[in-house]
Amino acid sequence: MNQEEKIKQFIENIYSNSQYNFNDSRYPEVTLTYAQTLDGFISGKPNTPPLLISGKESMLMTHCLRNKNEAIMIGIGTVLNDNPQLNVRQLTGFNNGGNVHNPQPVILDSKLRFPLDCKLLKNYREYKSKIEQKVEGYEKLTEIKPPIIFVNENQYDKTKAEILINYNVEINILKNDNNNNNNNNNNGSSLDITKVLSILKSKYNIHSVMVEGGAQVIRTFLVNASLIQHIIITIGPFFIGNGVKAVGDTIEKSELSETSESLPRLENTQSFTLGQDIIIIGQPVLSS
Ligand SMILES: NC(=O)c1ccc[n+]([C@@H]2O[C@H](COP(=O)([O-])OP(=O)(O)OC[C@H]3O[C@@H](n4cnc5c(N)ncnc54)[C@H](OP(=O)(O)O)[C@@H]3O)[C@@H](O)[C@H]2O)c1
Repeated sequence: MNQEEKIKQFIENIYSNSQYNFNDSRYPEVTLTYAQTLDGFISGKPNTPPLLISGKESMLMTHCLRNKNEAIMIGIGTVLNDNPQLNVRQLTGFNNGGNVHNPQPVILDSKLRFPLDCKLLKNYREYKSKIEQKVEGYEKLTEIKPPIIFVNENQYDKTKAEILINYNVEINILKNDNNNNNNNNNNGSSLDITKVLSILKSKYNIHSVMVEGGAQVIRTFLVNASLIQHIIITIGPFFIGNGVKAVGDTIEKSELSETSESLPRLENTQSFTLGQDIIIIGQPVLSS
């Protein structure tokens, strides 16, 4: 078995031991995953170039997780800062008809700041046009899906929405909800994550979502940990001294939702090294 197959097998075991039951839940199965430095930072200072924390082996694990999950969710901050592709290009068979799949990208973006020239859209449009023109080789490329974006009804850019809809991007408009207590910054502008998840399940029949960041989205899920089934954290073996923390002194008591009194702890933990990185896996439980 090569390393990719071993990682895939390991990931299969994580999910096969899951207590989650799709039929009993209003939401998809959620895996929160991110990489941090030894001193707990997930990126350098805001608006600086993306910081590569994962080594090549743990990056391969991330691509295997993307392959396993039906959707991948990030916040607009990560789209704007990192311009990610969110595909499985490191997996065997990506370019030549292998048995791998790209997850459905899902973006939290109240104001629709989504850039029209970002890689998520460019990759999809290029793929679609090559398929329509029947360009040789493209029929074997792993399907690239247009993003699903969640926006706030009073805040989003309607002109841009029309352009994006023409490009097959799905725009889901959420109503303002003053009782929304599961946002991360309590300014009332964040999207209600329980609504987002229930729409992903009921409208799109999505069974599993991998949440890949960035900082604000990680916090939103951590303070609503009952929505998460698995947490997978990669620790890169280095310090950076400052930057953006996944969890830090910025989470105030007032940010915690009524249903979660505190940040979770993990049970059924496992840890191992991949290359030089340390991987920590567990199921979140709320402290009593
Ligand atoms: N190390 C890692 O694993 C990793 C992974 C991904 C990203 N990152 C890093 O994270 C940084 C970006 O983090 P970020 O905090 O600026 O951006 P983010 O978490 O990607 O996106 C946050 C934005 O999403 C929107 N949003 C809407 N509803 C939300 C909700 N319920 N909860 C949270 N956000 C919601 C908000 O913008 P609107 O108000 O406009 O809707 C919010 O400002 C980048 O530096 C990137 O490199 C690191």
